[in-house]
Amino acid sequence: MSHHKVDSQQRILQIVFQSVHLTRGDKLAISSAQIPSEFSNPNLEVLLSEEQLQTRIKELGGEITRDYAGRNPLLIGVLKGACFFLSDLLRAIDTRLSIEFMAISSYGSSTRTSGEVRIMKDLDVPVEGRHILVVEDIVDTGLTLSYLLANLESRGAASVKLAALLDKYERREKDVKIDYLGFKIPDEFVVGYGLDFAERYRNLPFIAVLKNPNHE
Ligand code: IMP
Ligand code: MG
Repeated sequence: MSHHKVDSQQRILQIVFQSVHLTRGDKLAISSAQIPSEFSNPNLEVLLSEEQLQTRIKELGGEITRDYAGRNPLLIGVLKGACFFLSDLLRAIDTRLSIEFMAISSYGSSTRTSGEVRIMKDLDVPVEGRHILVVEDIVDTGLTLSYLLANLESRGAASVKLAALLDKYERREKDVKIDYLGFKIPDEFVVGYGLDFAERYRNLPFIAVLKNPNHE
């Protein structure tokens, strides 16, 4: 095969590849312009940015590291909302620990609490003698947490403490001691970073006020 022929074959291949890339690029550009962004949904007003959340969570992780060093704590995440907070928090806690999950019934699909608390998924391990740190997204009326903390204490845990990302303190009906708190927030319905409205918005990397719950 002559040099000339190899060169012209390569040139043809280059042109073919370039045109494939161009076509794919055009399609991607067009389709991404048509997809409405959930993160910049106009029905959301950012309350706590991703950076504010991450900075505060690192601070909390530092405090928990100091308080729990050598005690092998069991962190209990409350499904589903607290998973996001738990996963960032535990990577900021530099000591031996383990995690478990529980699911507690609360709001269902509306923005009002039912007042009824039920355990939907219980622990798979005994907690007797363990130092427990419950990790929750938000304390609102306090009904869920006061029930859960008392329940865990009654199982003979060595200690039971609470880390909550948000405290909607104005709506408290039952006293709950928050040992590690991220932020106090006003009485508004918030979504994002695990918190949902009818299962939507958990994937936002920030916390936002939902301006109109009935709006698309
Ligand atoms: P509490 O029993 O009233 O304290 O309710 C706690 C639960 O209600 C939380 O774990 C959340 O699942 C839910 N909740 C309370 N306030 C909000 C909110 O503003 N946005 C989303 N979920 C909330
Ligand atoms: Mg919850």
